[in-house]
Amino acid sequence: MLVDFTSLPPRDAYAWMSGTILPRPIAWVSTVSAEGRTNLAPFSFFQGVTANPPVLMFVPVNNRDGRKKDTLRNIEETKEFVVNLVPYALAAPMNDTAASLPHGESEFEKFGIAQAPSSQVRPPRVAAAPVSFECALHAIFPVGEGAMAASVVFGRILALHASESVLGPDGRPEAGKLDLIGRLGGSDYARTTERFSLGRPG
Ligand SMILES: Cc1cc2nc3c(=O)[nH]c(=O)nc-3n(C[C@H](O)[C@H](O)[C@H](O)COP(=O)(O)O)c2cc1C
Repeated sequence: MLVDFTSLPPRDAYAWMSGTILPRPIAWVSTVSAEGRTNLAPFSFFQGVTANPPVLMFVPVNNRDGRKKDTLRNIEETKEFVVNLVPYALAAPMNDTAASLPHGESEFEKFGIAQAPSSQVRPPRVAAAPVSFECALHAIFPVGEGAMAASVVFGRILALHASESVLGPDGRPEAGKLDLIGRLGGSDYARTTERFSLGRPG
């Protein structure tokens, strides 16, 4: 079959994209508002960008009524955020935090998610996350306008926290110990428990 994206409603485009571009890693993003209220939400349009300078990106899209998500509002106000990674053990609380709460109501408090202080930014980390990246806002690149329009948020990585429990003998995180999940289409997720290796061509 052939799907003509030039005349496709955004909802259908989203369904095709989210059901095919997978598995997607999940950025569980903590922020604070200008008043200091914490916020936590998952984003699976998420990737690393480069290491020089160390930058990652994730993509909050506007709500269907065109309103910005709290995460974006907070980052625009305070220019800082933390990206926490999501292991299988935290799948359920991660999903809880995708609920639409009124602006200013904290998902950390509402869902009893323990937080830990960051070292260089105000937003706290998710204490149980195996890895957290402290980020300063690098740039926001707008894509589209209105409902479902995107703001690509680029973050300069200032610090990384890694739980000792996910480190291997070389001092770096091991995929098997991280046990991260990836998002598939709809409500489906994948685990990273089945892996294989490929040597790079010379
Ligand atoms: C696994 C998962 C991945 C998600 N990925 C995105 C995403 O990439 N972009 C987005 O705008 N919303 C995404 N969402 C929905 C947001 O988490 C949801 O809209 C949330 O309420 C936003 O919270 P906030 O308004 O506090 O920022 C995702 C939800 C889940 C459960």
